Amino acid sequence: MKLKAAVVGLGYWGPNLARNLAGSGDFSLAGLCDLDVARLERVGAQYPAAERFTDLNALLARVRPDLVCIATPVASHHALAAKALQAGAHVFVEKPMTITGAQSRELLSLAASHGRHVFVDHTFLFTGAVQELKKQVSGGAIGELLYVDSVRINLGLFQPDVDVVWDLAPHDLSILHHVMGQVPTGVRTLGSCHSPSGLADVAYLHLVYDKAITAHLHLSWLSPVKVRRMIFAGTKQSIIYDDLEAAEKVKIYDHGVDFDVKDLEERRRVLVSYRKGDMRAPNIAATEALTVELQNVAATVRGQASARASGADGAAVVRVLEAAQRSLAQGGALVAVEGA
Ligand SMILES: NC(=O)c1ccc[n+]([C@@H]2O[C@H](COP(=O)([O-])OP(=O)(O)OC[C@H]3O[C@@H](n4cnc5c(N)ncnc54)[C@H](O)[C@@H]3O)[C@@H](O)[C@H]2O)c1
Repeated sequence: MKLKAAVVGLGYWGPNLARNLAGSGDFSLAGLCDLDVARLERVGAQYPAAERFTDLNALLARVRPDLVCIATPVASHHALAAKALQAGAHVFVEKPMTITGAQSRELLSLAASHGRHVFVDHTFLFTGAVQELKKQVSGGAIGELLYVDSVRINLGLFQPDVDVVWDLAPHDLSILHHVMGQVPTGVRTLGSCHSPSGLADVAYLHLVYDKAITAHLHLSWLSPVKVRRMIFAGTKQSIIYDDLEAAEKVKIYDHGVDFDVKDLEERRRVLVSYRKGDMRAPNIAATEALTVELQNVAATVRGQASARASGADGAAVVRVLEAAQRSLAQGGALVAVEGA
């Protein structure tokens, strides 16, 4: 039997959830909710079988959905998700999960006490490209991971309640967490604001990990060109993941540097030799990420799979964002990630 789903928030992203749920073999789109009546009517007109509401309480009472998907501004995620969990629904909440770590923890304990799941929309984890990255990095094909460098910049949609770090870094942080299997221990953030909002629109994050690995994220809503590129540099091979490439999103380079150290005391005698081998671009599945993601959500709810982007994963990302925010306020000081 299909699971009954509802979408709250029908602005930029919510209609993608509605479209995927309506076309899914696992879900029926039973309810839609937005405070903005014009949006509700416009999106709702495409899904006549879904009842329309301007208030989540009314939707929960009438539709009694199995899953509530929340695609509203970040500051409202916690209150809406809590209501849905208390009404007995599973929750699929947009990234970032909440605006504070305390709110994420609260949702996790609410979900546990009601025996319900919280999923966080870390969309990129459901792309063929990120699955390929995980295979290459965690399978050891690239050797030891040395560093990660990511650029995620464009003329972005300025968000009303969060800065560029809270808006864009969840993508990088969720990918890094998934691919590397670890959370950074500390973060330094530098950033600047060029609008009257006071929210940073350009930022640089330096993530420190347990091993000698570092990751650097460059985030911007103010770049004239769009770039979505990550470099995973390893001792044997390196990978460039360019999400804007139509076909060859992941390129694996058999290039690198070998150091021949004759005398550890005398660093000047280190011999550097450069390896330049082939590049290959594995075939990547092109299925829409949200389609794969909702299949994982349905299978998890039915007890047939485990969540690839769980509430705990979402909470881990929020803890790094909180540390990044504190570092930004302290002019780039190294701030420890809670619980890391
Ligand atoms: N996964 C992704 O790749 C991705 C991409 C874009 C946005 N997002 C996330 O989606 C969320 C929404 O972003 P957006 O750009 O679509 O925002 P948006 O401002 O375009 O749309 C938000 C909608 O929510 C409605 N809304 C606000 N409060 C509400 C409430 N209490 N009840 C019902 N409706 C309410 C608004 O009227 C609006 O229509 C954010 O968390 C954002 O980070 C995720």
